Amino acid sequence: MIIALDGPAASGKGTLARKLAAHYGLPHLDTGLLYRATARTLMDGDARLDDVAKAVAAARGLALTDFEEDRLRGREMGEAASVVAAIPEVRAALIDMQRAFAQRPQGAVLDGRDIGTVIAPHATVKIFVTASAEARAQRRALELRGRGEAVDYHAILDDIKKRDARDSARADAPLKPAPDAKILDTTDLNVEGALAAALAITEAAI
Ligand code: C5P
Repeated sequence: MIIALDGPAASGKGTLARKLAAHYGLPHLDTGLLYRATARTLMDGDARLDDVAKAVAAARGLALTDFEEDRLRGREMGEAASVVAAIPEVRAALIDMQRAFAQRPQGAVLDGRDIGTVIAPHATVKIFVTASAEARAQRRALELRGRGEAVDYHAILDDIKKRDARDSARADAPLKPAPDAKILDTTDLNVEGALAAALAITEAAI
């Protein structure tokens, strides 16, 4: 069983992916971390985010230990990730490892922007998780404050809108629901409500 969760920043897809993975006992890959870690490698090496050769080398060189640093989840890295994620060569460099993860014999849960459209077009279940930009900005502000970042709601809302526009407008694997994805709008749902809806969609598909 492959569960593909896609959607814009702070839609709740990551939380749902973790909870669905725990519920079904499946491994989970947060694919946003791959782009975040690629961006971090470039920034740490004082390279430009649009240096294609260095970005591809960074993507190819990702190691498991790269994903544990707290800084990866921060605001700056989300923004930088969406810049490197628009480079087709970077996306190409990350496809094989994501597909290999999806093809694990026991199944898998993956969340990102292009799981249902590019990485696992034959996924058993595809859910496109969305919510209003305002609801997402509120959640992201709470999350970042919880991690000790001093954040301003309006700045976060601007970030989210900018990131949505960049992720949706890019030519390669833009953010969009797969034709056969179920849309789950979490604007008015708490975590329990969103999980119940995601479980209902999944149970209907398996
Ligand atoms: O989901 P997260 O906020 O961690 O993703 C960071 C950025 O990585 C996104 O804004 C998007 O540009 C990129 N991304 C992507 N494809 C994925 C996952 C993330 O392009 N499958």
